Amino acid sequence: TRRPIIAIDGPAGSGKTTVTPKVAEILGLLYLDTGAMYRAVTWLALDKKILINDEAAIAELVSQCTIRLEKPEILANNTPSLRVWINDQDVTTAIRSPNVTAYVSAIAAQKAVRATLVEQQRTYGRNGGVVMDGRDIGTYVFPDAELKIFLTASVQERARRRQIDLKEKGQGDFSLEQLEADIYERDKKDSSRAIAPLRQASDAIEINTDHLAIDTVIDQIVSLYREKI
Ligand code: C5P
Repeated sequence: TRRPIIAIDGPAGSGKTTVTPKVAEILGLLYLDTGAMYRAVTWLALDKKILINDEAAIAELVSQCTIRLEKPEILANNTPSLRVWINDQDVTTAIRSPNVTAYVSAIAAQKAVRATLVEQQRTYGRNGGVVMDGRDIGTYVFPDAELKIFLTASVQERARRRQIDLKEKGQGDFSLEQLEADIYERDKKDSSRAIAPLRQASDAIEINTDHLAIDTVIDQIVSLYREKI
């Protein structure tokens, strides 16, 4: 018998990567940011100048790479420092760049990429005691997760958060209009792909974070877990 699993899914910029590490810390669970895995593979493909639609080359790449995610440290103001390596290169900052963000959905739609990464995710969560965030955790990776959360927010709010985030990280000044368009496109690609598309599991609890502080969202998830488990 395995320990419980929390699945946190939702569209781009809904707050998953901010909220989930803190939930893990409070509840003493392992944490896995599955988006970081798709981002790391995308970074590597771009770095090796592999064409995004060369599925055979990308399949080869993903079968041979080693992704390592460090247990996040929660910094002041709740920001997690989530270190990520691929083939021993530290790509923590690089995987959040606008360039990786622009190509990640095309890579994440590929069958071989998903098969390899989902297998690693299932292995990681084999014994439970883990909270995972992504797009397909509650629907595909762990459809039997004990608690499923679907985080949402309006496109406008998500673009606003991303703008602040990119600026703080010194990754550029982007207009809200541009960011809204990017987020809209990425959601569309993630929701319409053939394999394990982004959608809310029928038994997931939706939390709209538009008017909620980060701490409130964290508290809600922690309470739901304690009520259920
Ligand atoms: O969550 P994040 O924005 O970092 O995810 C980046 C991208 O990785 C998503 O837009 C999606 O294309 C892909 N992804 C996925 N399945 C997951 C997590 C992320 O397809 N479980």
